[in-house]
Amino acid sequence: MRQKIIAGNWKMNLDLDQGKELLIKIIDSDLNSNCVTIVAPPYIHLNSFKMLLSHTNIALAAQNCHQQDSGAYTGEISVEMLKSVGVEYVILGHSERREYFQEDSIAISFKVKNVINHGLRPIYCCGETLAERQEGEHFITIETQIKQGLFHLNEMELLNCVIAYEPVWAIGTGETASPEQAQEIHKFIRNTIAKEYGGMVANNISILYGGSVKPANAKELFTCPDIDGGLIGGAALDADNFKALTDSF
Ligand code: 13P
Repeated sequence: MRQKIIAGNWKMNLDLDQGKELLIKIIDSDLNSNCVTIVAPPYIHLNSFKMLLSHTNIALAAQNCHQQDSGAYTGEISVEMLKSVGVEYVILGHSERREYFQEDSIAISFKVKNVINHGLRPIYCCGETLAERQEGEHFITIETQIKQGLFHLNEMELLNCVIAYEPVWAIGTGETASPEQAQEIHKFIRNTIAKEYGGMVANNISILYGGSVKPANAKELFTCPDIDGGLIGGAALDADNFKALTDSF
């Protein structure tokens, strides 16, 4: 079902004590309960966060996972392990994973399937680089990422995914896509899904925008018809900003 969502991607920030301190501030900040709220801290925080979150409506996400269930994959974490500490969502295909860890949409599609198979929900990221936008290739980039990363799923499986459009040129740069630019791509993503799976599926998927979202620009973005919330980096590391973002619907 299409939901309003605010998800905080903490990336590789905050040690465990700092993370707990921020999480407790977020829990105490009386978040708007009209949206689904998700925090995605580093792996090592997840276990103790689940306990802190046990009497709240805040859901826990991981920032990555491995595509195999177990085995000799030094340094990796499986979906089953994430599930065992209460994780409900997994961010996949973030542009930082694509850029620094050479993950492409085909490789990510295996992770997507594994997350779905274990009953968790992928937050599948897509987005074009600045060069791709300047060359006018942004639609084809997004279409390819969506098709390769998600179109191996059946209808029910796709309905369990959340999609995040994060233009690479807007991440951590302070430069946000305008509401018109973001809405255009969100609508394009929904149309791409509708062509393959039909309107019911397309209309029931939450599509988040990410890239320099902050309380000052969130309302404008979130009132666009095809934008269902945000995947937030920097602004999610401040409890007041995070609360203000949940109040932006
Ligand atoms: P910023 O909000 O810091 O631009 O990061 C966006 C992002 O990458 C969220 O996944």
